[in-house]
Amino acid sequence: MRKNIVAGNWKMNLSENEAIQLAKEVAEIKVSNAEVIIFPPAIFIPTISKLGLDIKIGAQNFYPKSNGAFTGEISINQLKEAGISYVIVGHSERRTILKEDNEFLKEKVNAALELGIHVIFCCGEELAIREKGTENEFVKNQLVESIFHLNADQLKNVTIAYEPIWAIGTGLTASKEQAEGMHLFIRETFASQYSQELANGISILYGGSCNPTNAKELFACPNVDGGLIGGAALKSADFSSIASSF
Ligand code: PGA
Repeated sequence: MRKNIVAGNWKMNLSENEAIQLAKEVAEIKVSNAEVIIFPPAIFIPTISKLGLDIKIGAQNFYPKSNGAFTGEISINQLKEAGISYVIVGHSERRTILKEDNEFLKEKVNAALELGIHVIFCCGEELAIREKGTENEFVKNQLVESIFHLNADQLKNVTIAYEPIWAIGTGLTASKEQAEGMHLFIRETFASQYSQELANGISILYGGSCNPTNAKELFACPNVDGGLIGGAALKSADFSSIASSF
């Protein structure tokens, strides 16, 4: 029914040679029950794309205008020309470090979908919010303000990634109960906003210190459809073991 996905977010890591090598190794990962996607640093996308590997390539970021006076930015049109078919929107590092807010993320979602680029939309709460017990409302608001203006047809090109900020790059993983609890809440929220059928078709990935040791139990949760992987995506053996965890 819905797709399993394992996506590797390489962030601002690797030299060109290392990126080429890793892309080649990841392209050798053959799993029949999941889509594998890599998100290299933008500067390496054309080179990796021209290798013609059997792998889906995405962009970690873009500016939501097709062209113009936006010094230093890269448009989704330019990235599409370079060979991407996916993009990450709403990653917590861009929300917190680069100050991207829900309104701007909505613009990015729209710009990507307009060009037929599949959006992996990240949501997730920081530790203080979980400690207060308001994580569901917080995540719902992120969806309301950046995603829920879309129609059912547009949502076919959207995947959600739940990434609790306290688990990203910290070695602290959400327990399977915490992950499943939030994923179920997100799916129910889609069901009440749209329909149960649409909610059942949306892939919801988990992100935050996912590794070869914990991937199996996380992916076994009924509402966890894969992972957005940071640190463990930089080693092909680890990434391969995660991709084989369904
Ligand atoms: P991590 O990063 O796996 O290193 O925690 C996940 C992410 O930021 O997408």
